[in-house]
Amino acid sequence: MESLQSADRPIVLPALLLCDFGHLNDEVKRLEAAGAKAMHLDVMDGLFVPQLTYGLVVVEAVRRAATVPIEVHMMVERPDDTAIQYAKAGADIVTVHIEGLAKTKETLSAIEAEGSQAHLAISPNTPVSQVEPFLNSCSGVLVMSVEPGFGGQAFQTSAIDKIQKLEEIRASIGHDFCIGVDGGISTKTIASVAQAGADLIVAGSAILRQTDYAEALRELETLARKSK
Ligand code: DX5
Ligand code: ZN
Repeated sequence: MESLQSADRPIVLPALLLCDFGHLNDEVKRLEAAGAKAMHLDVMDGLFVPQLTYGLVVVEAVRRAATVPIEVHMMVERPDDTAIQYAKAGADIVTVHIEGLAKTKETLSAIEAEGSQAHLAISPNTPVSQVEPFLNSCSGVLVMSVEPGFGGQAFQTSAIDKIQKLEEIRASIGHDFCIGVDGGISTKTIASVAQAGADLIVAGSAILRQTDYAEALRELETLARKSK
C-alpha cells in the first residue's frame, strides 16, 4: 500500500466496470499482465446511482484473483455500516461518497481500524469544502469527473479546479493524502488531471474498451508521468 502513497504516483487504476464479467478471473490476470499496479471496483446499489453492479461476493472473488491492491468505490446510499465489510474482505482502499454518509468520521475510522485506507469521494456537484473537515481523518479524496453511475461518459473539466484546490490544501496541511480522479479519463484528459495533482487516476473505457490493455495502460501512464 505504501507504493500507492508516494513513490510510484501517479498510478493509473483500471476500473473493472467494463470488463467481461463472464471471465472475471481472466480479466484480472490480463490487467495485471498489462502492468496494472492497482484496480478500481465500482460497487453500485441502484439507489445512490441508477445502476446496480455487484457487491461483496464479487469483490471477494477479485481479491482472491488479484495480487495488486484493490480500491472499492462504493456508490451506495448509507455506506456507513457496510463499508467495513469491504475492508474486512481485503480492499486496500475503501472509497465512500460523502453525499451518502451519515456518520462520516466514524465510518472513516472504522475502515482504517481494519487496516484499509479510507477515501472520501465527491460527486461533480459537491464542493471540496465539504470534505475539508475530514481530510485529517481519511487517506485520500476521489474527485468524480463524471456523474457517478456509468462508464464511458465525457470528462467534466470542473474536476481540474477541485484537484488543484486539494493539492494546495495537501501542501498546506502537511498530511499526504492521495488525490484520486474518476470518470472520462483518456489520452486527451489524463495530462490535465496529473498536472493538477491527481495521483490515483481511474480509467475504465480508456483501457477496457481497447484491444491491447498493456498498450493502453502504458500510454496513459506515460502521459500522466510526463505532465507531473
Ligand atoms: C463511474 C465509475 C467509474 C467508471 C469509469 O461511476 O465510478 O469508475 O467505471 O469509467 P470511464 O473511465 O469509462 O469513465
Ligand atoms: Zn469508480
